[in-house]
Parts: sequence; C-alpha cells; structure tokens
Amino acid sequence: MKGIILAGGSGSRLSPSTDSINKHLLAVYDKPMIYYPLSVLMLGGIKEIMIISTPEDKSRFEGLLGDGSSLGISLIYKEQSDPNGIPEALTLSEYFIGKDDVTLILGDNIFYGQGFTTLLRKAIKDHEHATVFGYRVKDASRFGVVEFDDNQKVISLEEKPAEPKSDFAVTGLYIYDHHAVQKAKNLPFSDRGELEITDLNQAYLDKGQLDVQLLGRGFAWMDAGTHESLFDAAEFVKITQQRQGFKLACLEEISYYLGYISREALYEKGKSMEKNDYGRYLLEIADRKHTKQYWDPAVNQNPMLGMIENE
Ligand code: G1P
Repeated sequence: MKGIILAGGSGSRLSPSTDSINKHLLAVYDKPMIYYPLSVLMLGGIKEIMIISTPEDKSRFEGLLGDGSSLGISLIYKEQSDPNGIPEALTLSEYFIGKDDVTLILGDNIFYGQGFTTLLRKAIKDHEHATVFGYRVKDASRFGVVEFDDNQKVISLEEKPAEPKSDFAVTGLYIYDHHAVQKAKNLPFSDRGELEITDLNQAYLDKGQLDVQLLGRGFAWMDAGTHESLFDAAEFVKITQQRQGFKLACLEEISYYLGYISREALYEKGKSMEKNDYGRYLLEIADRKHTKQYWDPAVNQNPMLGMIENE
C-alpha cells in the first residue's frame, strides 16, 4: 500500500495568509497542518508516502520532513504545477503507485477518534476496489455528498450540490486499487474546470466497486481549508490536548509507539527541541518507557498499538 498526501493548490480561500506560504504548512494550533494527514497514513501502517505540492513549496516540505528516515518511513516529493483537481494526484504518482493499492488523503483533513486506527487498518486490509468514508455534517453542500437507501446501499454521489440529498459528506480519505490511475486519466474536466474526485468515485460506483464506510458520531473529522474551519480545528486540537496531556498527530510519538524509531532517537529529537512544548512532550514520552498507567487500560497496551486489533 502506497500513501499520497495532496498538499498543493493555491489556498486562495485562506488568502492573504497563504499568499506566500502553502496552506498545509500553516499551523493547526501547535504543529503544521500536514502533520495531521501524515499521522493518519502512518497510523494506517503505510510507510511509503509521496507528498504532492506546488513547485514553489516542494523544498519547504522537504525541509520540514526530509526523506522520512527520522520517522522510520520513506517520503518522496512531487510537484503539481497547476491545481487541476484531486484526481491529478493519482496520475502524477503513476510510477510511484505501480501495481500497488494507494491511500490518498487531502492535506487539510484531520481525523480523530478512539478506534480510528483499527477502522483504517481494517479498511486498508479488506478493501477491494475503492473505499471512501462518509461523515455526517451540518453543511453538506460544501463537500462531496453520498446518498444511501434504507439498507445503506449507495444511491448517488454529488460534488458540492446546492441541495444535498443527504447529510453525509465524503471525507478526503480515499483507498483505491491501482486502476484508479487509469480511471483518473479518463476523467473529463468539470464545469468549474477541475478533475473531480467525486467523478472518480462515481466511476467505481458505476461498476459496483465503491465501498462507503461511515464514521460515527464518536469521530471528529475536520477540514481546515477556510478561516473558520482552520480556527475550529486549532481550537479542537488545543482543547483535546490540554485536557488529557496527549498530543494529536505527534509524528515522532506515533513512530516510536509503532516501533519505527528507538527511545534514544525519540529522546534526541526531544532534546533538540526542549525549549518548546513539542520537544518537552517528546522527552516526556521517552521517559514514560515503563509507565503503564498511561497505556490503554482496555488492552494493557501502549496508546497506539492498543487501538490496533490483531497485532
Ligand atoms: C474536496 C472534495 C470533496 C470532499 C472534500 C473533503 O473538496 O472535492 O468531495 O468532500 O474535499 O475535504 P474541497 O475541500 O477541495 O473543495
């Protein structure tokens, strides 16, 4: 399974904040936005990841995350010269995907909730052709919308409909087989002049090959693509972190708990940043080696692996 993060686009909805910096490098409370989707792919067990951004920003992402080796993963970078729509992420990564399956996540999407890792790993393991995730929202017309019949069978998909047929948005997390690349190549441009991810999902639906999994009310899904949603997301992260003292999307912590980096490497990283809260948190995690009271009581496991069944 390969992973792709789409972190391109002009970010015009966040202008002027994004006039000279890529949206996905803006902070969501205490860390860059891209940490959140990257944490999702890592929790899904994906280790080979391509980050797609604009030609101007590619080196900034490289400067931030490098080749991924400090996190025990492999990161490569690709430019998207024009923002032609989400499906272009698949055609741009044709050689990277090869004959593998691929999980694509939008760089401004944030997922959080107990059991999310388990759900995602299961979806990755079980998926056949295309799997997407539905989430109830109040303002569905901002999103791709999925409509179900009474048996939860998908009836329709629509991109940003003025009058949504349901309250279920399609989130920016998509699992595809490698045929998605060819399918993306065949898509027409929409009326707004973009390739639409909803059209790609429709192509799978037409063949009876689209699985839509619902994320229940216990999950938080947010996008941070507007001033309001960015502010809301930052507030959510702040409140959640301050209450429990655990950070969301702390990449080094995830890497450590997944066994990709050693306690020493975690400690060193923390030491190099000990003047700030993030660094001190890493040191705290490294010190917590045998402190089982922090482990997940349900399974007597560490916080990450505790969420993963059968491992
Ligand atoms: C995109 C997709 C939309 C999806 C959303 C999720 O919209 O086109 O189908 O629901 O991401 O974040 P955008 O936010 O790029 O307008």
